[in-house]
Amino acid sequence: MPLSLHPHAAAHGKAIVLGEHSVVYGFPAMAAALPDALRLEATALPDPHAPSTLYMPDWDLQIELRVESEHPVARACLEVLGHCDGPLQGWAIAGRSRLPPGAGLGSSAALTVAIARLVLGPTASIDDVVAGSMAGERVFHGEPSGIDSEVAARGGMLRFVRGEAPTPVTFDGPLPLIVVPSRVGRSTADQVAKVRSRYDRFPRLTQPLLQVLGRSVDDGIEALKARDFDALGEIMQVAHEVLSAFAVSSPILDALCSTALRHGALGAKLTGAGGGGCIVVLPGPNPGSIIDAFTADGYEPLQVELLP
Ligand code: MEV
Repeated sequence: MPLSLHPHAAAHGKAIVLGEHSVVYGFPAMAAALPDALRLEATALPDPHAPSTLYMPDWDLQIELRVESEHPVARACLEVLGHCDGPLQGWAIAGRSRLPPGAGLGSSAALTVAIARLVLGPTASIDDVVAGSMAGERVFHGEPSGIDSEVAARGGMLRFVRGEAPTPVTFDGPLPLIVVPSRVGRSTADQVAKVRSRYDRFPRLTQPLLQVLGRSVDDGIEALKARDFDALGEIMQVAHEVLSAFAVSSPILDALCSTALRHGALGAKLTGAGGGGCIVVLPGPNPGSIIDAFTADGYEPLQVELLP
């Protein structure tokens, strides 16, 4: 077992552009990294047998990583450290993150990827880092597809199919997006369970819906490559409406999407698990009026320019 952690590690956040939920059932998804969204620093405590600590002021989080702890973040971090054969005590880990926690932007994957990197170091293989992250992600989310960990570790825009190596999506120039946190919390595991329950009750009805969500990914990638943003926006609309059929949207998310569309967006949909969390908006030629509308309503939209 290594006696030390590396002093620094970083990871990306993520915004799923298309294919959330259907990705759990083996269909493709497309997700973009939000670069350098989380950084951690590790320092040795004077007592190597003292419980390790995690301090994330942006998340109001200050905890001890004790084996007997019930705190999901403590349990997840210890799972990652254990999986990667890292030290389970004697370290102070502190970090900064610009991701709101639990909002569907991959905060838990960013944290677990960065913890894995503290153990495995900057030259570790992506697959080893992702495997370490997944040990922690299972504590948070049950049986996640792995898309969040892959994007948090790799960066860029990825086409991801569960159980396969992801492929980078190449396209010309930046893809401008606006991410709007609804400030409504939710549990990814609960939203995934909601989709599962509808799927189990009505498999013949819901299987074609999952196929549409999967198809939206490859049609969306084609539109992105052709820089046909009108088409990409319309495909995002279809995806949001199909996701609503699984009851993972909400009146607030629908209202946020309507605000974006009223102010000229080409498309707007929930991103991630839904039920709360964020929407992702494809702005038209005038993103400023969309930003102003959300800001006037008291929201804090995040403007991102995604690169391949
Ligand atoms: C969560 O970021 C994305 C979901 O598709 C769940 C998963 O992929 O594990 C809702």
